[in-house]
Amino acid sequence: MPEVNMSVSLAGVPLKNPVVVASGTFGFGREYGKFYDLGELGGICAKGLTLRPRMGNPAPRIAETPMGMLNSVGLENPGVDAFIAEELPFLRQFDTKIIANISGNTPEEYGIMCEKLSAAGVDLIEVNISCPNVKAGGLAYGTRPELAAEVTEVAKRHAGRVPVMVKLSPNVTDITEIARAAEGAGADALSLINTIRGMRIDVDTRRPVLKMNTGGLSGPAVLPVAVRMVWEVRRAVRLPILGMGGVSRGEDAAQLMLAGASAAAVGTAMFADPFAPLRVRDGLAEIAARQGLSAVSELTGAVLPFS
Ligand code: FUM
Repeated sequence: MPEVNMSVSLAGVPLKNPVVVASGTFGFGREYGKFYDLGELGGICAKGLTLRPRMGNPAPRIAETPMGMLNSVGLENPGVDAFIAEELPFLRQFDTKIIANISGNTPEEYGIMCEKLSAAGVDLIEVNISCPNVKAGGLAYGTRPELAAEVTEVAKRHAGRVPVMVKLSPNVTDITEIARAAEGAGADALSLINTIRGMRIDVDTRRPVLKMNTGGLSGPAVLPVAVRMVWEVRRAVRLPILGMGGVSRGEDAAQLMLAGASAAAVGTAMFADPFAPLRVRDGLAEIAARQGLSAVSELTGAVLPFS
């Protein structure tokens, strides 16, 4: 089969291939780095960071579901300073792009983290306004256009030359309202979707399976929701999109790209198979070659209308 150019651009950041690993599913890469060269990935979205270290929510905070899983991790992380001092130098050894994911309790906290991460030299900052598992910040910012705009504007002001990508929640009536608000406030890119709020109950104990009662659903079950939302957002704004939600095969990533994503992130699939991102990359290359494309980027937004 003919060689396909696998490189893409996301908010002006060149990725060697469109496959990124999703925040919160890859830690800081140390464990996965034992399986393969992390430089094979298009990009690494590091575990979500907060201004100060967080222990996260009490266990149980992970539960399997049909075709997916629920998590209520609650942003456990060592804090932005420890990331910069201890994890970023490790990640920097690999020939890939490093995306820092941040969550704040206030817009000011987002600003402080952007300043630190920009000075530290990350390639992209993913502004998380969609974590469903924390009381302050998180989803509160991602469900109201005016707050989404405020956080985006503060992040942009403090991020210097590093592009800002806003991570959107599917837990809204109309995701395009939030996408437009982020675009209007200067976002350079959007990522979607974060997890869908869900719940599981143990019928014998009659208690929720997760200590926090609810959590975020991810995995193959959410792929059609992600494809639909990427498609809607693509038609509403001009920003590049990192699509995610249930990707475990090249065909899944191709669907997100056809719907409008410039790149696709793999997340939950890696818990079952650490090599999933490489399989997705190779699957995408095969699809592009089979369709006679010279570049995988030709898939972006190329879905055909039904009639
Ligand atoms: O609970 C968590 O740490 C999840 C974060 C997120 O979905 O953004």
